[in-house]
Amino acid sequence: MTSNDYRRGLVLAAMAALTTFMMPGSATADEPFKIGLILPMSGPFASTGKEIATAVRVYQKKYGDNVAGRKVEIILKDDGGIQPDLTKRLAQELVTKDHVQVLAGFGLTPLAMATAPIATQAKVPMVVMAAATSIIPTKSPYIVRTGFTLPQVTAPLADWAIKHKELKLKSVITLVSDYGPGIDAEKTFVAHFTAGGGKVVDSLRAPLQNPDFAPFLQRIKDAKPDAVFIFVPSGVGTAVMKQFAERGLDKAGIRLIATGDLTDDNEMENIGAAAQGVITSFHYSAAHDSPENKAYVAEMAKLGVRANFHSVGGYDGMHVVYEALKKTGGDSDGDKLLAAMKGLSWMSVRGPVTIDPDTRDIIQNVYLRRVENVNGVWSNVEFDKVEKFKDPGV
Ligand code: PHB
Repeated sequence: MTSNDYRRGLVLAAMAALTTFMMPGSATADEPFKIGLILPMSGPFASTGKEIATAVRVYQKKYGDNVAGRKVEIILKDDGGIQPDLTKRLAQELVTKDHVQVLAGFGLTPLAMATAPIATQAKVPMVVMAAATSIIPTKSPYIVRTGFTLPQVTAPLADWAIKHKELKLKSVITLVSDYGPGIDAEKTFVAHFTAGGGKVVDSLRAPLQNPDFAPFLQRIKDAKPDAVFIFVPSGVGTAVMKQFAERGLDKAGIRLIATGDLTDDNEMENIGAAAQGVITSFHYSAAHDSPENKAYVAEMAKLGVRANFHSVGGYDGMHVVYEALKKTGGDSDGDKLLAAMKGLSWMSVRGPVTIDPDTRDIIQNVYLRRVENVNGVWSNVEFDKVEKFKDPGV
């Protein structure tokens, strides 16, 4: 071997190593198809991780783990829910060391935002199952969202509150968690409610971590608006509802309206009668009356979990991956998978849904619901809907 041959050999070896690094989606057909699932399995938002991980198990139990000749393997990582740098590092490792062909999960907005550049660099589809700030899919062309957005579920509630003049909801104070989805919810509510002739007399923002809602609720009680509009992320609703009742806002005649995150089905057993009659808008209720949903809720219950909206984001996220892999005939090339995901339509357990081929966000029905006790179970009972509603943005 000449020294030139030797050098050429080195260059080729380096190129091969680089290709392996840069093309995580290039596994061949007889290798497993790997999904890196990053969720908060511990910490303050662990309920989100538990819901989605359980839904993924339910999905694979029903549809198996073999798709287009590929064995689908889930690699689950716990990011604790509140450290974007950790989520990003886990995603990087999943792509470079485990060679996953899809990234999925993302319990909160900052975690999805931090990971978006990894999906772009690695050309790996990133299925956002939970995080719900409107702009997330614009952060990488490889993002597809199967959950919802805050503007999507807030706009119909503000419009409904304006339309029903008999409720006399003329003045409202907004109270949101102070980060992406909360600010989206606040802006959307204010824009729609004031455009319809209502008045937002104050807008309050509580910290995301370790919030004490008491001073905010006291301020609202003293201001005596007709209603308060609330957004808090899944996992926080019980604390808010308890303090709302303890401070006597309900007795002071202040109505509570919210996005469905507040009356999370997962928390309704703890919240109980404190939420009776609360009106919310959302894309999913465990009480949604369809055969598909009844079967789903029963399967989740067998694994000890009451299905909530995050679980459905996970269940439908799996559907998107499975259907895309079927369409590519088992080819795990990231661009081909992504192309196959765009425009998918199916009957979800929440109702009919479509992945918008242009925005990669989910188009779905948004329901208005009232908290009621149905045969001993505190439930979000749907009574109206806006059909096939797209994220309106902020
Ligand atoms: C988010 O961080 O985007 C988020 C988390 C939980 C929710 C809604 C939004 O219930």
